[in-house]
Amino acid sequence: TELSKIRNFSIVAHIDHGKSTLADRLIQETNTVADRDMKEQMLDSMDIERERGITIKANTVRIDYTAEDGEDYVLNLIDTPGHVDFAYEVSRSMRAVEGSLLVVDSSQGVEAQTLANVYHAMEADHEIVPILNKIDLPASDCERVAEQIEDVIGIEATGAIQVSAKTGQGIRETLEAIVNELPAPKGDADAPLKAMLVDSWYDAYLGVIVLIRIIDGKLKKGERIRMMSTNAVYPVDRIGVFRPQMESIDELGPGELGFLTASIKQVRDTRVGDTITHEKKGTTEVLDGFKPAQPVVFCGLFPVDTAEFEDLRDSIEKLALNDASFSYEMETSAALGFGFRCGFLGLLHLEVIRDRIEREYDIDLITTAPSVIYHVHMRDGTMIELHNPADMPDLTLVDHLEEPRIKATILVPDEYLGDVLKLCQDRRGIQENLTYAGSRAMVVYDLPLNEVVFDFYDRLKSVTKGYASFDYVMTEYRQDNLVKMSVLVNDEPVDALSTMVHRDRAEMRGRAMVEKLKDLIPRHMFKIPIQAAIGGKVIARETLSAMRKDVTAKCYGGDASRKRKLLDKQKKGKKKMRQFGRVDIPQEAFINALKMD
Ligand code: GTP
Repeated sequence: TELSKIRNFSIVAHIDHGKSTLADRLIQETNTVADRDMKEQMLDSMDIERERGITIKANTVRIDYTAEDGEDYVLNLIDTPGHVDFAYEVSRSMRAVEGSLLVVDSSQGVEAQTLANVYHAMEADHEIVPILNKIDLPASDCERVAEQIEDVIGIEATGAIQVSAKTGQGIRETLEAIVNELPAPKGDADAPLKAMLVDSWYDAYLGVIVLIRIIDGKLKKGERIRMMSTNAVYPVDRIGVFRPQMESIDELGPGELGFLTASIKQVRDTRVGDTITHEKKGTTEVLDGFKPAQPVVFCGLFPVDTAEFEDLRDSIEKLALNDASFSYEMETSAALGFGFRCGFLGLLHLEVIRDRIEREYDIDLITTAPSVIYHVHMRDGTMIELHNPADMPDLTLVDHLEEPRIKATILVPDEYLGDVLKLCQDRRGIQENLTYAGSRAMVVYDLPLNEVVFDFYDRLKSVTKGYASFDYVMTEYRQDNLVKMSVLVNDEPVDALSTMVHRDRAEMRGRAMVEKLKDLIPRHMFKIPIQAAIGGKVIARETLSAMRKDVTAKCYGGDASRKRKLLDKQKKGKKKMRQFGRVDIPQEAFINALKMD
């Protein structure tokens, strides 16, 4: 396709403002998919995405559009994830396109991720077309929201297109704006091949599929390519485009987005952001900004039923093939038996993987407390990377500990600023800067990563009613007074509940944890002490009193089916518990005990 007839774009929006619905409409309006094949939210392919309404993996669709000027255009839409865990995926997929549609719900206004994502688009030098969506809603107020876009984001929005992705109103105008307002890509068809590896994933039939953006040159089926970061060479089996289902074509030229397959064994062999060129007469210039995503949060995953360990291994290996940012190694726990220590990009990533194992592979899991990587400096001068608090060496051998710190940037409407400052302060944050951008405060904090990985994002959202946007970068490792806190249930230590905490906050955290556990562990026939301890010293204690757990007593004999149902229910509840000594601890206790309200 001629460069002047191509438009590459992404859609940026806050969660629920209608990104997927709008994408579906663009696909439908251009007859990219026959009406009978249209299912809602074409682009959100994974069940979990659909259910949670969040977009995780980048997806792409090529749309043919005959514009009002009578010319045929090719529009390539890249779908991007919207959560801070995947900020790296957002920023790199944005570098593969020239423009963005900024979708704002006109009944809500600019919200948290609107900002974070639009900044990514600006960093990628995008032309940005504002779209006011949901104008069919009675609460829609286009004038106010357009003004807000101008104030807060600083882009012209008075003439913004008014759309209802629900009724289809404004969809033609949107397509015209894509053609008329977004720039065509640049590139040189005669230069050596230079393509960007935008994304890759595993397909059960075709193996690894690589999403690429051609910058310069041309790529044909059968040619041999080189991945510049690894120097690995592959013959290309197949190239094609997404409509949104895969369709083979013979050649991809500059400015185009498409896929290739090349007998690449696993997703791990591909590096997102890498430069792809021909094996011979290739380019020597590498695209900049390439960095592999590193796991930062670790936790243990154990099967509730120990007999399912091999199934768990199988599921983890399969998921890892398709997700290079997910790491794992075997772990044994005194309390939980055999399982895996896994590394993730953040908590959402953790939850997504855990959900997929539970649903797609039908394995009930116990998830232990998430932890960051600590540097343990030993008296003998060596340093150990601690991924798991349970592995903390004997204190007499330890000189000092260091923890990872981050620089967090939070944008928030003025009225919630006080709550945000308090939250950051409570999480051992050090304020570095406070400025104003429009009617919003922008605050920069130096925070310990371990105070953020757990429930910081949820708390931030709840104290600001979803209006804060948050982004962070890792900065350095710094020494602090950190200790390992153990938890004892019925006088037995439960290693899976051990956490690293700051000494000054240990009592407070210990108390909160034992109180939570008291609510989370069901009563037994006997009294159960629950304690938090540092070394041998108990710092908090609760006692769960005894109860007769005769659940069928209520049934007054007669109704046998009701009785059976109750017993079944109890049995099912049991399945989700693990025994520690004589105590049953429910699965969710392992993660909920750590949440700080
Ligand atoms: P994420 O995938 O989570 O980022 O959300 P999204 O931005 O893709 O939002 P999505 O398209 O899933 O829409 C969110 C909700 O808003 C859905 O229930 C849609 O049906 C609804 N919605 C989208 N566009 C419109 C619209 O124009 N009018 C009305 N009334 N509802 C809409």
